[in-house]
Amino acid sequence: MHVLLTGATGRLGRELAPRLEAAGVRVTGLGSRDVNVTDFDAVQRAVDTARPDVLFHAAAFTDVAGAETQREACWCVNVDGTRHVALAAREVGARLIHVSSDYVFWGGDDRPKGGYRETDTPGPVRNTYALTKLVAEEAARVAPDALIVRTSFRETAWPHPTAFTDLYTSQDYVDVIADLLASVVLHHAQIEGGPLHVATERKSVFDLVTRRNPDVTPGSRRDAAVDLPEDVSLDVTRFTQLHATWTTGKEATA
Ligand SMILES: NC(=O)c1ccc[n+]([C@@H]2O[C@H](COP(=O)([O-])OP(=O)(O)OC[C@H]3O[C@@H](n4cnc5c(N)ncnc54)[C@H](OP(=O)(O)O)[C@@H]3O)[C@@H](O)[C@H]2O)c1
Repeated sequence: MHVLLTGATGRLGRELAPRLEAAGVRVTGLGSRDVNVTDFDAVQRAVDTARPDVLFHAAAFTDVAGAETQREACWCVNVDGTRHVALAAREVGARLIHVSSDYVFWGGDDRPKGGYRETDTPGPVRNTYALTKLVAEEAARVAPDALIVRTSFRETAWPHPTAFTDLYTSQDYVDVIADLLASVVLHHAQIEGGPLHVATERKSVFDLVTRRNPDVTPGSRRDAAVDLPEDVSLDVTRFTQLHATWTTGKEATA
C-alpha cells in the first residue's frame, strides 16, 4: 500500500508515518513547504505524481484561538484545501481518509452533550475552526467513499500550567491515537465511507493531561480566549467493534 500523507510535519503526521512504515506501508509525506493545499494545481500535480492507494489528509489550520482573527486563512486551508485534496484523490482513484474533529459537535450547555455517534447530526459549532472542520467534511465527500475520521488528541508534553476540568472529550495522547489511526489505514478497505469516530473513553482534559503531566493544575474552559464546548466526547462503539475484529483476525463488515 502507498499512502500520500498531507500534514506529515504536524503532530499527528509525525506519529502516524513511522507506524505505517513499520507495518510495511510506503509513505510519501508532505508538509506545507512541499505542497500548499490551498493551491489546487500543486495538489493535483503532487497526487498525480505519487498515484497513492490512500490519500490521508491531516493537513489543517489548527490554531483554534488564532482562527478567530485569521478566519480567511483558516477557511482556505481547511475547506478549500480539503476540497482540493478530495478532487485530486477522485481523479487518481485514491481512497481519501480525511481527519476531522470532535469539534463538529456543539457539546453541551443548553443542548444535548457528549456520547456523539456517527449518525448524530453535527453542529451547530462553537468557533471558526470548528465551522471550517464541519464544512471540510462535506468538501471531503467529493471523493467517492471518503472516510471521515473524527478524532482528537494531545501532545504528551502539555504546554500550559493548567488544563480544563470542565471540558470532556474522548481524546487521547497523539501516540495512542496514531496507533488507532494506523489500524484504520491498514484496514480501510473493510470500512465503509462516511464518518468514523476514532478515540478512547470519555474523560476531562485535566484527567488526561495529568496522567503524564502530574504537576498541571485545574483550569476552566471559561477562561479560554475562544468559546469551547463542555462535552464533545464521541461514541466509539463502531470503531471498537471494528478494531476488535481486526485484532482477532475475523472478517469485518461495519
Ligand atoms: N490537535 C488536535 O487536538 C486535533 C483534534 C481533532 C482533530 N485534529 C485534526 O487532526 C489533523 C492533524 O492535526 P495536527 O494537530 O497534527 O496539526 P498540526 O500539528 O497543527 O500540523 C498541521 C499540519 O498541516 C500542515 N499545513 C498547514 N497549512 C498547510 C497548507 N496550507 N498546505 C499544506 N499543509 C499545511 C502543516 O505543515 P507545515 O508543518 O509545513 O506548516 C502541518 O504538517 C488536522 O486535520 C486537525 O484538524 C486535531
